[in-house]
Amino acid sequence: MRVQPKVIIHGGAGSSLQGKGGLESVRHSLHTIVEGVYSLLLSGATASEAVLQGCKMLEDNPRFNAGTGSVLQSDGQIRMSASLMNGASGRFSGVINVSRVKNPIELAQFLQSSPDRVLSDYGAAELARELQIPSYNALTDLRLQEWIQERQDNFKSTMAGVVAEPELAPSSNAGRGTIGVVVLDTYGCVAAGTSTGGKGFERIGRVSDSAMPAGNYASSYAGVSCTGIGEDIIDECLAAKIVVRVNDGMLLKDAMQRSFTEASQNHRDLGAIALDATGVISWGKTSQVLLAAYHNGEAIGDTLEWNDGQLVGYC
Ligand code: GLY
Repeated sequence: MRVQPKVIIHGGAGSSLQGKGGLESVRHSLHTIVEGVYSLLLSGATASEAVLQGCKMLEDNPRFNAGTGSVLQSDGQIRMSASLMNGASGRFSGVINVSRVKNPIELAQFLQSSPDRVLSDYGAAELARELQIPSYNALTDLRLQEWIQERQDNFKSTMAGVVAEPELAPSSNAGRGTIGVVVLDTYGCVAAGTSTGGKGFERIGRVSDSAMPAGNYASSYAGVSCTGIGEDIIDECLAAKIVVRVNDGMLLKDAMQRSFTEASQNHRDLGAIALDATGVISWGKTSQVLLAAYHNGEAIGDTLEWNDGQLVGYC
């Protein structure tokens, strides 16, 4: 029996979203990608296939801090992390701190069927070489300018401004970037994918939440992708916590509310998108802004101007 597909995606979270032209162009990017992923699902794509394609579209958009447009680390290099979890098979796979590939999520997808499912820098580079993936430079002028500015300021910021347009990043701490996609396919299966360039200006070897179950997790009941400060997401073990609560019988909206109440009490700076196998879509943030958009089977909506003081929303 076919079910109504659902999709929610995000392009990061942050502390400000200024400039109407900027807001509208972020909205246009997110809505176009949501529409593309939803069409794939309608045409029978599996949840994992739709997540892969959605993450690639977000990685390829230089506005977002993943793939092309990734932020630079303290040594001026780009190292990216991505993961994919197929809720039906219960398999998590990912790459940590990989360089010189266009779409880290493709490596994560390949590793779904590997006995070794999470590879870090050297191993991920070896895999890209074995798969004959062409070398790719993900650097954009904006990210280079940000890094040069920070170098001149002696790396005062602890992370980069990662909502990629200047009018959206008026200060160097305007956003916390990551991208993510969570879907329910027409076969009733859930999958989640997350990809990031990291915090920006971090120490070499720092590991992001995006390629951990803390930042990306799915089961046959629910899927979650997180964004925000990776250390905060790891401390909350946010994605896995929400999914396990749903697995154990809690409604998704209650699992989100409880998990975000805890995150707020612990003064975390993060956001997440989620959906469950019954078709409920949800989002949450302790940060001021969450760049998320969704298709609920009837229409596209987004959270760009969501500011009602609640920690969690759903539809
Ligand atoms: N959430 C992305 C990172 O902190 O690396």
